[in-house]
Parts: sequence; structure tokens; C-alpha cells
Amino acid sequence: MRERILITLKMGNKKKLVVLTGAGISAESGFSTFRDSGGLWEQYSVERVASHEGWLEDPEFVNEFYNKLRGQLVAASPNKAHTILAQLEKDWDVTVITQNVDDLHERAGSSKVIHLHGELMKVCSSRDVEDPRCIVALDEHHLTVAPGQLAADGSLLRPYIVFFGEAVPKLQEAAEAVEQADVFVVIGSSLVVYPAAGLVHYAPPQAQCFLIDPKEVSIPSGRSFEVIQDIASKGMEKLSLRLQNLL
Ligand code: APR
Repeated sequence: MRERILITLKMGNKKKLVVLTGAGISAESGFSTFRDSGGLWEQYSVERVASHEGWLEDPEFVNEFYNKLRGQLVAASPNKAHTILAQLEKDWDVTVITQNVDDLHERAGSSKVIHLHGELMKVCSSRDVEDPRCIVALDEHHLTVAPGQLAADGSLLRPYIVFFGEAVPKLQEAAEAVEQADVFVVIGSSLVVYPAAGLVHYAPPQAQCFLIDPKEVSIPSGRSFEVIQDIASKGMEKLSLRLQNLL
């Protein structure tokens, strides 16, 4: 009993590590990044497959696109960056805020993941995206939405994705997490898509901030970030060494 209380206290005292991830963290998993990747994304315009107007114009085309993308996702695996991030939960209270719609953080073992832009492996109502009764998780044996397939509320089934032009329901929850950060890290995001990029402003002044990206990224707030200019896997190896000094 005595040991148990001590362990509980220790877990409660873990410092908070909040990590904002973007497409770059999934690049080494072979899951195409949005802007500079090649692959499936380059054959389709963002307006057609990732905007609210695009969905209204041709839902069948949009569903077909995400059906294909799910096929790519189940063939991909988490990479070292996802794995190291999940392992940091041993010493840190980690919250991952991801702009990615893939499930690679979860598959690597991260337990607290906020998906700002939705989840590829889920589908939902097109009348009310957040209606929990209509959100259905797909799996590797059921990857596709058929033309005309309906959600439980009778509306067309659609990808559980936040399209451009739609509200970002998880933004408040994400901002509150960033406000609590002892250490805040950005990995593999160009920080050009808002409101996600604006989360940087919520990091408390005393929080230590890191950015991992092989390219130069312009940081919106003018805050001081320690930049690890490297790909995500190598960058995470370096970061986990740095974090040992901050425990
Ligand atoms: N490791 C780390 N970062 C990488 C790697 C890598 N191996 N390869 C590329 N990057 C970096 C790029 O240099 C770039 O800065 O990842 C970043 C990817 O930027 P974007 O493609 O703009 O992705 P992201 O910031 O996640 O975009 C935000 O916009 O495309 C929409 O809704 C989509 O969620 C996405 C949002």
C-alpha cells in the first residue's frame, strides 16, 4: 500500500510535455505529407478533396479519395519518432496534439492524442460531424465507404476529417493543453495552417520550446525556440537526450 501511494504521487508529479505534430513526423513512415510529398496527394487538388465546398460538390469523389488514403495508411507503420514520443510517457505527462489524420501516434503507443484535423480511420454523419452516435471506427478489413452509404442519422456517411472551411472543434482542448506545458515541442509542421499554428501563442512564457524540422520554419509568435534542424527520427533522438536534463 505504501509503495502504491508513492508511485501514484510520482506519476502525478510528472512534468507536462505538449507536442504539436504535423505531416513531417509521418514522412519517414511513407505516409505522404500534404505539401511536399508526391504520392496520392499530388494527384488531387486540396479544394476538391479537403474543402467543405469540395465535399458538397462531389461527396462520392471525396469518399473515394479517403478510401484510397486509408489503404495507404494501413500499409504504413509508426516510425522511430512516433515510438520515442510514446516512450517519453515513462517520465513525462505527454499530450500529443496532431494535425495529422493518421493513427500512427496511437499505434506507436501514445495514450493522449488530440486530433485537430480529424481521424482518417473514422467516418461520421454529414449532418452533424460530432454526433457521437454516428462516428464509426473503421479497421483494416473495412476501409471503404460505398457510394450512397448512410450514417445512422440517415445523412451521407463522410470522412471524420475537418475540411478547410470547417470549424476545428478540438481547438479549445488543444489550447488548454498547450497552456499547461512545461515543455512545448513542434515536430514536422510548416506552421502555415491556422488555427493550428496559432497554438504556439498559448505556450506559457516559462515553458521551454523546441522545434524539429529538416527545413527552416518561420515561427509565428517570434518566441524563442531551440531548433533541432533534422528529420523527425533523428531529431527525437536528440530531443529525448535534451529532455533528460529538464526532468
Ligand atoms: N521529419 C520532420 N519534418 C519533416 C520531414 C521529416 N522527415 N519531412 C518534411 N518535414 C517537414 C517539412 O519541412 C515541413 O516543414 O514537415 C513540414 C510539413 O509541413 P506541411 O506539409 O505544411 O504539413 P502541416 O504543417 O502538418 O500542415 C498542416 O495543412 O495540409 C493541411 O490539413 C493538412 O494537417 C495538415 C495541415
